Amino acid sequence: MAAAAAHRLATFDDAALLFEVRRRSILELAPPKMPVADAEAWARQLAPAGMERKLRDLEIWIAELDGVVAGWGAIRGDVLEGLYTAPEYAGQGVGAGLLDRLEALMRGRGFEVVRAEASTNAKGFYLRRGYRVTGPQTPVGAWPIARQLCPENTAARE
Ligand SMILES: CC(C)(COP(=O)(O)OP(=O)(O)OC[C@H]1O[C@@H](n2cnc3c(N)ncnc32)[C@H](O)[C@@H]1OP(=O)(O)O)[C@@H](O)C(=O)NCCC(=O)NCCS
Repeated sequence: MAAAAAHRLATFDDAALLFEVRRRSILELAPPKMPVADAEAWARQLAPAGMERKLRDLEIWIAELDGVVAGWGAIRGDVLEGLYTAPEYAGQGVGAGLLDRLEALMRGRGFEVVRAEASTNAKGFYLRRGYRVTGPQTPVGAWPIARQLCPENTAARE
């Protein structure tokens, strides 16, 4: 069984590391479910300065295993704005654990539904976790998805 990751809020000092985890996770984990050219274009959409902007605008949580950054996820209000696992930690529950944490935070803040846009490669990951597709694929190929947050599990692990 994979060890449970420790979760902490990101700071500006994490910017370079988070930028790199995002870039590598997209390039190494999105294919083959996404064409390599599409993954490269997606990875290029964010410049290092954009990561600092995300840290300003979003609430970003980091998953650490033995003190090493294994993944990160971002929320703003009731929207999941990103979820990335470092490739060397893929398939160990890091992404699912972060998603649980972020959903619990949103639930604890009174949101009943979480919304996101799933890339084609990650769509199955979200559908297996209770999300449903809420609209047609966007012009950039993402799927609008949402999940009802069950009110009975109200304990936010903040
Ligand atoms: C989507 C993503 C975040 C998933 O991260 P992850 O940490 O690998 O996810 P998990 O390990 O929690 O779950 C992945 C699968 O491994 C399985 N798994 C979990 N623990 C496991 C373990 N100990 N051993 C083997 N498999 C395991 C899970 O059951 C899950 O399978 P499922 O999706 O078929 O249900 C990751 O693939 C990623 O960063 N992709 C590139 C960026 C991306 O697409 N982000 C989403 C943008 S919308």
